[in-house]
Amino acid sequence: MCAQLSSRAHLLPESPFRQLLPYAEAAKKKGVDVIHLNIGQPDIPAPATALEAIHEAYFDKLPYSHALGIESLREGFAGYYSQTSPEVKPADVVITNGSSEGLYFVLFSLLEPKDEVLVFEPYYANYSGFAIMADVTLKAVSLHVENNFDLPDNDTIEKSITPRTRAILFTNPCNPTGRVYSYQELKRLGELAIKYDLLFIVDEVYRVFSFAKPCPSILDIPELRDRAIVIDSISKRYSACGARVGTIVCCNPQLLTGIDRLCKLRLSAPFVGQLFAQAALDDSTDYMEKVKKAYQRRRDLVYDRLRHIPGVETYLPEGAFYGFVKLPVENAFHFCQWLLESFSHHGQTVMMAHGAAFYLTPGMGRNEVRLAYVASEERLQQAMDCIEVALQHYPHSTLVKELVHNTNQ
Ligand SMILES: Cc1ncc(COP(=O)(O)O)c(C=O)c1O
Repeated sequence: MCAQLSSRAHLLPESPFRQLLPYAEAAKKKGVDVIHLNIGQPDIPAPATALEAIHEAYFDKLPYSHALGIESLREGFAGYYSQTSPEVKPADVVITNGSSEGLYFVLFSLLEPKDEVLVFEPYYANYSGFAIMADVTLKAVSLHVENNFDLPDNDTIEKSITPRTRAILFTNPCNPTGRVYSYQELKRLGELAIKYDLLFIVDEVYRVFSFAKPCPSILDIPELRDRAIVIDSISKRYSACGARVGTIVCCNPQLLTGIDRLCKLRLSAPFVGQLFAQAALDDSTDYMEKVKKAYQRRRDLVYDRLRHIPGVETYLPEGAFYGFVKLPVENAFHFCQWLLESFSHHGQTVMMAHGAAFYLTPGMGRNEVRLAYVASEERLQQAMDCIEVALQHYPHSTLVKELVHNTNQ
């Protein structure tokens, strides 16, 4: 039997969110309570009205929907975006199998093989895999925790634009950093998109989770409308990762032509997920306000604990539900594995995603981790206890080395 993997499959990176799961499973078998901060899977319940709508819905079959999505759901999303941005029409909205499919569809249908896409690292690690699937090349501009992940000036960014660059792929609010970029910052990047005739793809799956001020949409900037593509999803917004419903929103009908073909090729987005999404969009309770406040409290708790741990360098995330943190270790991947394999504190440990996977540049992120605040405040306190104690006992902690070094002097 020929059981060889294709060269393309070999190129796909390991998922940093799931790579260490076998170690977590082994820890659980030993009776350790693993607090999962490794993946952005919200623990907060989905809107009750939408869950009830699914329970009460009667259907005697589960059909394909229209390839571009159930018409009334496309209308619902168009109304949703039009609340905060200039008018979006149902025809501008395509329903996808989560935003993951949307990202791949956009890269595949709008770019030529080997075209370059500008990203800002650290970026959502799965972009690397989607780029490989679509045979496009990511080019990264590096951002740094020391200056709050600010964008460099346009002259610096321009150095990473080549004749093969065709698109900017941006995330706002950012996963993994939680940084929220302003209208002015988007506009400044937009100037480069116009100057070099680039598509401006913005992944806005965390847009509702912006704590201090609303997060702008790329659709808000009139001069970018013909090149703007929004990638969105209900996964995070309504704690509905398993519904597998996302959207591509684009007000330039020409750009949607190729995406239309891909949608027909894959036949349909999930039928039940779309019913759920429609009911969630119709929810008129204060669900979203409550969820936002819950994430903000968690953000405050985690930030406050982390900044008091010796050797930890962190930043106050403005949105999404992640913290991206520098630890006093040389190899965060090893530290994350050690937490699962060799450590527990009061019978608990923590699973996190290692930082290097969020960078394109080799060597970057080696001492960084991403943690998702997808656990109750009580469990997050326990997780922070674990990290604090673990760093005191980790044999390769650079803090221990520094202390020894200082004492020997
Ligand atoms: C920035 C970003 N984009 C896209 C996705 C994919 O989500 P989904 O396919 O569930 O919509 C995620 C998931 O974590 C994400 O963080």
